[in-house]
Amino acid sequence: MLSFDNCTLEAHAVDITTLAVDAIVNAANTSLLGGGGVDGAIHRAAGRELVHECEALGGCATGDAKITGGYRLPAKHVIHAVGPVWRGGAHGEADLLASCYQRSLEVAHQAHCTSIAFPAISCGIYHFPADEAVRIAVGTVLETLPRTPKIARVVFACFDNAMLALYEAELKRRQAPPSKPV
Ligand code: AR6
Repeated sequence: MLSFDNCTLEAHAVDITTLAVDAIVNAANTSLLGGGGVDGAIHRAAGRELVHECEALGGCATGDAKITGGYRLPAKHVIHAVGPVWRGGAHGEADLLASCYQRSLEVAHQAHCTSIAFPAISCGIYHFPADEAVRIAVGTVLETLPRTPKIARVVFACFDNAMLALYEAELKRRQAPPSKPV
């Protein structure tokens, strides 16, 4: 766990669909009409009403995020963020992934959310390298939080222990005091 200003950042090995937070983030695609991975799990757990609300949103650009209700989920809202497909790293993937975390926090803040949980966006079907994605996720959240002061709790929901280890190492690295100049 990392404490930053008035917010805590936590990583847990957990199914994001079980979290009773104000908003869970979905790793969606540009159609917002559902898919596999965490997107499929969220739509299954939320029920058909979620896709009906998504149909009215008209899709979402890569790097952006849009909010809906949570329906049968314990979370109040779902924030659908569209991560980049990894195409080697020279196609703006890092900036687009950072934008997903930034826009999700902004949208959550506008909706008066105080707690939010993220999956490892783009790290599954979209094949973004996990170690770089974790650095971008934690770094962008830390950069954005001063502009989204209502958010008091950020959870990184990891689907497996390998991902959890990456997040825990990155949170620890960010907490370490700066080394003394030699
Ligand atoms: N809770 C938390 N994390 C999960 C869960 C869960 N229930 N299920 C999977 N993960 P992915 P992407 C992890 O593939 O790479 C869909 O078809 C998973 O282990 O869900 O952004 C969309 O519609 C991985 O670490 O998302 C898009 O077309 C992470 O969530 C496309 O996949 C993200 O994996 C998006 O691909």
